[in-house]
Amino acid sequence: MEHIKPGNEKQHLYNSYQWVWDIIGTVEDYRKFAGYIADRIRKHERIRTRTLLHLGCGSGCIDHHLKDQFNITGVDISEKMLESARKRNPECKYIPGDMRNVQTENSYDAVIIPESIDYMSSCFPDGTPHF
Ligand SMILES: C[S@@+](CC[C@H](N)C(=O)[O-])C[C@H]1O[C@@H](n2cnc3c(N)ncnc32)[C@H](O)[C@@H]1O
Repeated sequence: MEHIKPGNEKQHLYNSYQWVWDIIGTVEDYRKFAGYIADRIRKHERIRTRTLLHLGCGSGCIDHHLKDQFNITGVDISEKMLESARKRNPECKYIPGDMRNVQTENSYDAVIIPESIDYMSSCFPDGTPHF
């Protein structure tokens, strides 16, 4: 395996193993989880949530079930995962970025980080991975 620069280890991992994602699960497997997320948002929102930022969006399986309700922008560090997400959800906007420092042009009504929030703390401040 080629040398992985500190801070880029998951980019490398998810780029290499994106193809596994579609084998271990189907988009249908995410319906219930996506419904739970939508319920939480609706329960706690103080304004009607229309725009949603999904950090670590992966291949867009959750977005697939939420895109009828929300205008979704997904951010992911892996281009391969983003490619898959774009194919699955042409209606959504997908941008490459690191959730730890991404800057977006817009603000959003809500932000979700399902099954990827742990990547927020995957490096020490100097960029050294701690796992
Ligand atoms: C377990 S998947 C979760 C995908 C999606 N949120 C879901 O629940 O189906 C984790 C995703 O986080 C992305 N990721 C890992 N570290 C990241 C970072 N620092 N910034 C943005 N995305 C990151 C990976 O590339 C991968 O697509």
